[in-house]
Amino acid sequence: MELQYPKLLQYQSYINGQFIDAHSQSTFPVSNPFNGEHIAEVTNCGIAETKNAIAAGQSAFESWRQLTGTERGQILRRWYELQMQHINDLATILTIEQGKPLEEAKGEIRYGASFVEWFAEEARRIYGDTIPGHQRDKRIVVIKQPVGVVAAITPWNFPNAMITRKVAPALAAGCTVVIKPAELTPLSANALAVLAEEAGFPPGVFNIVNTSNPSEVGKELCTNPIVKKLSFTGSTEVGKILLRQCADTVKKVSLELGGNAPFIVFDDADVKAAVKGAIAAKYRNAGQTCVCANRIFVQAAIYDQFEKSFTQAVRQQKMGSGLAEGVTIGPLVEEKAIQFVEDVVRDAIQKGATISTGGQRLGSDTKTLFYQPTVLSNVNTRMKVFTEEIFGPVAPLFKFYNEEEVIQMANDTPYGLAAYFYGCDHARIWHVAEALEYGMVGINTGMISTPVAPFGGIKESGFGREGSKYGIDEYLQLKYLCWDIND
Ligand code: SIN
Repeated sequence: MELQYPKLLQYQSYINGQFIDAHSQSTFPVSNPFNGEHIAEVTNCGIAETKNAIAAGQSAFESWRQLTGTERGQILRRWYELQMQHINDLATILTIEQGKPLEEAKGEIRYGASFVEWFAEEARRIYGDTIPGHQRDKRIVVIKQPVGVVAAITPWNFPNAMITRKVAPALAAGCTVVIKPAELTPLSANALAVLAEEAGFPPGVFNIVNTSNPSEVGKELCTNPIVKKLSFTGSTEVGKILLRQCADTVKKVSLELGGNAPFIVFDDADVKAAVKGAIAAKYRNAGQTCVCANRIFVQAAIYDQFEKSFTQAVRQQKMGSGLAEGVTIGPLVEEKAIQFVEDVVRDAIQKGATISTGGQRLGSDTKTLFYQPTVLSNVNTRMKVFTEEIFGPVAPLFKFYNEEEVIQMANDTPYGLAAYFYGCDHARIWHVAEALEYGMVGINTGMISTPVAPFGGIKESGFGREGSKYGIDEYLQLKYLCWDIND
């Protein structure tokens, strides 16, 4: 891998201000999903190293929390600037280990860094409150304090931004962090550690434990009493396990879990804009985001028109190496992922769906991780494409007739992360926005992700919010002081 700043490529784990090997000296392989090429051997940590990282976080906590918000914010700001300075290298590392096109990877680095910039500013705005006393001689003040050592378990689909979105508010609040990155994408996390050190975070404030045994390390992070908070992004299935494991030490928890986003196009929508929005919401990261449009509902009067233009737009997507010019869709991340996509498409076809475009792996190479951008028509609610989070470049188009019917179908899922709809009628916009049981709703837009808004879900998509003025509260606890002024 050719980088302008080769130091960003690190293969160890970062604990207490040092890159270290695993005690066992064992490593695990990391490969490029584009061609299966082996790109790195990364230190394979276990419980002992995880405990060391937690202890380092605990030792660093007292002095880190004592800094003023402005002082912590200045270090975060430097970290942000370093990320922007090294954007090309960070994006190259990301593309090679994760597969997304380079321009999209640069977009992720900008997105990830924007959380650091935002929370660098928020660090000095951790305001408390004064409350009029309940008795004449009582004064009540509410202060906010950092929770302590935070564990962040992060996914492979955004190897950079899901780290910064958790870690930046935690550090701004005065917490220290132990990050367990996804084993498929540890190199982006390590590159962030290099820049965190250069930005001036003291040893122990920022730690990374790389492992190919996520359940063992995850369990230690969830059960260790020194850790006071867990923030996890990943599947609902794993989120439930971690939540149970956190119960015995009654940790503060935030979970950003799976989604099954409806994308609704009403008959008064601007169809061209809706097609553009659907492409953005469906095919970002080859369909591998929790907020990807999963089920596209189109009102009967414009169904044929939408299907035709959407299919044309999907056919224009270009697959290939993320490093090649003009590529918009990369490979899926691993064999398991592509087999899942094949299974949901097979199920839909067996139950009567028709393929408007795509529908299989690319080319004759059975080992390829490329799945053709696909549009399915004649789909119905008995198919897996209705109930499962597809996490791949497959768009099922459902036909609907009225608002009541589509709201019922949109909400007919245990998930509640993101939803989208297109239409013009103002009364209906309010009504639908209020009726959708989701934490985030895009109205006439397919892109809702930004550091200034609270990202997060309801129902089995989790709880807690990331980004915005609310995001820092996840890493703070309230304390109220009741003061008798006569004593
Ligand atoms: C995710 O897929 O979990 C995050 C997507 C985003 O932040 O836009």
